[in-house]
Amino acid sequence: MSPPPPLMLLPLLLLAAGSFAAGNAKATPPSAAAAAGAGAPAPVPTPWPEQFHAVVFTNLTESGGRLQLIDLYYDWPKGRNLNLIHNQLSGDPTYDVEWTNGTSYYFDSGSCRTIRFPVGILPPDWLADGAVYLGREHVDGFDCHVWTKVDFIWYYEEVATGRPVRWNFFNGMQQHVMSFEVGGVLEDSKWQAPPYCFNGDNADTATLAADGADVMNSLMRFVGGSSCSYSCIA
Ligand SMILES: *[C@@H]1O[C@H](CO)[C@@H](O)[C@H](O)[C@H]1NC(C)=O
Ligand SMILES: *[C@@H]1O[C@H](CO)[C@@H](O)[C@H](O)[C@H]1NC(C)=O
Repeated sequence: MSPPPPLMLLPLLLLAAGSFAAGNAKATPPSAAAAAGAGAPAPVPTPWPEQFHAVVFTNLTESGGRLQLIDLYYDWPKGRNLNLIHNQLSGDPTYDVEWTNGTSYYFDSGSCRTIRFPVGILPPDWLADGAVYLGREHVDGFDCHVWTKVDFIWYYEEVATGRPVRWNFFNGMQQHVMSFEVGGVLEDSKWQAPPYCFNGDNADTATLAADGADVMNSLMRFVGGSSCSYSCIA
């Protein structure tokens, strides 16, 4: 038996996110004044631009994975998000194409898996609601504001520019933003899943059920996609 591919863990992660959200619903975040110093309101995270292209260096070694370079295309107006995942020393990248209607396609040059999620993609202001400000920290050589959301993600934003610098997840995944191009888009044809995602035997489809906070489930979907490696695909 080979170990379960990361996607098999997604239903569990979704359940975990649901209980995370439920378990934390009553927790009172520290007051803004306490976090930021007497009298000053805590900073609010900068919303994501509606479209951007980021190159993200991803370190999965703490969660048993490898290193990746990911081209992330976030396209809110067109309701889609794409991770083009280059695994270290692998010539065949993995695509994770997420549509806001809930369908995600994971494919490489030879195989495909389709997953239907009960949630859409992250909205640009996904971090603001429920984020707890932790203060300032020097991270990757940048002076950053740090927020956490239900001890699930730690998000580092450059104080001077509002650009994201890094985010870390509870499962050990660390993502470093190497470039951040506001307005960067990927041409439509590159979003199209290949024919073998749609023909009978090869089209491996699963549907995930979830309840609880929508944004948390969208975040789970985002994490699952970004931590997807060659083994996402059956
Ligand atoms: C990856 O993360 C591990 C665990 O935090 C760390 O020890 C290692 O230095 C990191 N590697 C790179 C290339 O960032
Ligand atoms: C969602 O949109 C994508 C891209 O247009 C499409 O391939 C997929 O079938 C749609 N899913 C549903 C459930 O309508």
